[in-house]
Amino acid sequence: MSQLEKVVVTGGAGFIGSNLVDALIEQGKEVHVIDNFSTGRREFLNPKAELHELDLCDESETLGAIVNGADSVYHLAANADVRFGMTDIKRDINQNVIATLRVAQACAENTVKEVIFSSTGAVYGDAVQHPTPETAQFPIQTSLYGVSKTAAEGVLSTFAANGLFHVCAFRFVSVLGHRYMHGHVIDFVRQLHQDPSALTVLGDGSQRKSYMDVKDCVRALVTLRGAQGFEVFNLGADDYCTVRDSVAWITQAMGVEPKISYGIEKRGWVGDNPFTWLDVSKAKNHGWVAEKSISHSVQGTVSWLLENTWALAVQDFRK
Ligand SMILES: NC(=O)c1ccc[n+]([C@@H]2O[C@H](COP(=O)([O-])OP(=O)(O)OC[C@H]3O[C@@H](n4cnc5c(N)ncnc54)[C@H](O)[C@@H]3O)[C@@H](O)[C@H]2O)c1
Repeated sequence: MSQLEKVVVTGGAGFIGSNLVDALIEQGKEVHVIDNFSTGRREFLNPKAELHELDLCDESETLGAIVNGADSVYHLAANADVRFGMTDIKRDINQNVIATLRVAQACAENTVKEVIFSSTGAVYGDAVQHPTPETAQFPIQTSLYGVSKTAAEGVLSTFAANGLFHVCAFRFVSVLGHRYMHGHVIDFVRQLHQDPSALTVLGDGSQRKSYMDVKDCVRALVTLRGAQGFEVFNLGADDYCTVRDSVAWITQAMGVEPKISYGIEKRGWVGDNPFTWLDVSKAKNHGWVAEKSISHSVQGTVSWLLENTWALAVQDFRK
């Protein structure tokens, strides 16, 4: 029998999941990845991880066998894109709620001690308090993605409240960095790579957003574990930027001066929250802090995309 601590990562071939898997393997863990490669990439998979190619939405006995013997299960698999929720109306509920219920049931039946969950700042909808603390009242939701993550937290907290396992739920701001495959930075870089003279921006550019680098995110996931019951942490940088700031950093990093066409709407898309900034004092009180600034994270993401231009050609299936 293996002497290594067994850890399971759902979504371990995705952007954040694959960076997490690398860090866990670096720590000497026996890592099992569950992924259906709907958005995950085989080239991101750490060869030292054991792969279980599986769709969490499918009824199967396999899931229980995979999590059996694991101390911790990181549940990151999801539809991770806020946009298009109102056009593909069942996706967020299936991928993010039903899949979470299946993971929870398998963990409970196989005496997993802790589930670590990737939630999102989108659960705060159009927050009224900035920076938004974990204790903020849940608002009217603005996206089915936010709804689905709120519901998934509810599912996991019910299992925790009934003593079946502990849960640590992390509400992330948007994440940037190495292996970044979806979000505004890739959208802008893709456009400018095709035509450096023009850039179309969704919304009027005044949207205020906080971000964090994937390395900071992963450091939180591996260090802020050990919850008792149900624990929630906001994660993000201490500050925020506007979309116009981000456009300036991206064009500067690419060395281009395009004609920029902004929209007239305050929201970039249906479900977008024009101001996202989380209060991360709780995580800081537990010893975590985002080390990389937002501007460095944006520019580092541009560098990664320009070194990996194949990523720009990958079709965004979520549309
Ligand atoms: N990227 C961000 O900015 C961000 C912000 C807040 C929260 N999150 C959350 O973090 C997690 C990871 O996000 P990401 O950006 O790495 O996304 P991603 O799309 O790169 O990764 C998701 C992974 O899950 C897999 N997957 C999806 N549905 C599955 C299913 N039914 N069965 C098995 N595998 C499945 C995909 O193939 C992919 O590898 C998600 O839960 C997301 O909601 C991400």
